Amino acid sequence: MENIRLIKSNLSGFVSKKELDDVAKPIRLIHDSLQKKQCPGCEYAGWLDLPSSFSSRLLRDIEATARRVRQEADVLLVLGIGGSYLGARATIDFLKPFFSEQRSDTKPLIYFAGQNLSADYLNDLLQVIKGKKVMVNVISKSGTTTETAVTFRIVRQYLDRIYGKKKAAEKIIATTDKSQGALRRLADEQGYKSFVIPDDIGGRFSVLTPVGLLPIAAAGINIRALLKGAADFERKGSKPDIKNNPAYAYAALRHVLYTKGKNIEILSAFHPSLHYVCEWWKQLFGESEGKDHKGVWPATANFTTDLHSLGQMIQDGRRNMFETFLTVKKESSLKVPAWKDNIDNLNYLAGKEVGFINSKAYEATAKAHFSGGVPNLTIEMPARTPYHLGQLFYFFERAVAMSGLLNGVNPFNQPGVEAYKKKMFKLLGKPRT
Ligand code: PA5
Repeated sequence: MENIRLIKSNLSGFVSKKELDDVAKPIRLIHDSLQKKQCPGCEYAGWLDLPSSFSSRLLRDIEATARRVRQEADVLLVLGIGGSYLGARATIDFLKPFFSEQRSDTKPLIYFAGQNLSADYLNDLLQVIKGKKVMVNVISKSGTTTETAVTFRIVRQYLDRIYGKKKAAEKIIATTDKSQGALRRLADEQGYKSFVIPDDIGGRFSVLTPVGLLPIAAAGINIRALLKGAADFERKGSKPDIKNNPAYAYAALRHVLYTKGKNIEILSAFHPSLHYVCEWWKQLFGESEGKDHKGVWPATANFTTDLHSLGQMIQDGRRNMFETFLTVKKESSLKVPAWKDNIDNLNYLAGKEVGFINSKAYEATAKAHFSGGVPNLTIEMPARTPYHLGQLFYFFERAVAMSGLLNGVNPFNQPGVEAYKKKMFKLLGKPRT
């Protein structure tokens, strides 16, 4: 099976061999402390060996629960936000067909909520589930996140009304802390089927725990292949040197570019299925690195779509950015037809694969942006499979841990997200507990 690849092609003049050699030394030291789980915040480094040590009992439980959801529900509502949302959304969007009609061929349809506070969104959701057999997976490690909790109240009221309290409880699956928080108390009191989010894994590193795996399995995706990809990459990601560990090579390159004033990274995806993978990446890197007034701003773009909007800014705007392209090598076959009259002058592409044209658009963009002063690298995924996405998830988790630690911050906490909550609670008149 082919592996994901880091291609370091458009960096010359921006990153030298000496600069990389210099950063390789601290990387070895940090690697040591990470492996021994002695780095700052390492009490949350449980994701490091999760893929290779995943409990087969838990895996069977997740699969059996997913089977029940697939048999009993037309719709699965997945309620969660941030790390309790993005991994499942990214995986399902990456691997399932694009259009809702194609997804509705196989039960259940998956709808996400709890990731915003919009009444319009929730009213539309309540409309769309009317008359359908509904199950709910509510996901919150703290069990107190406002967006998820408000949404769960509304959805629970709907279920109670439709099914009656007792039956409604059978339709709810809670994924939360093993012993703390309101959701755990509720799950135990009401007898919900529940899964535990491990103490030593933070939200944005939790895609390969029941947080991500249950909704992903309920969508009919092979979670064993996802875990296998991550486990295979775990072996690579456990190497201490940037020559043999592509995740550390990526961290090293980002670090050198950042220290030279490139403080924005654009993750530019050349496949529309990658949109939410980019959103997952944005949260992983933003929450992990943005501390102590430091960090690379994680921006994303969807190409070729955004070449017709952001492209101008990347080519010609302020030169404070670098770019990481995310590509998928193998696509399905579709050829451009020939036209007799050639009225659109496109016959030079007749017989060519659309995927081939997309690959040339990528190559051209990488070259153009480089010559415009935007250094870039590429992560190539061989194909749209759970196995390769598993590799990619682990690649980025390793890379961000190293990158944050290299920059002198704790990559595993997120003290900054509390500030808005405090002010919002004050405005809403939340009583002190
Ligand atoms: O990565 C994180 O820790 C956060 O994004 C959380 O996942 C997010 O805030 C949701 O938290 P919770 O799972 O406690 O509802």
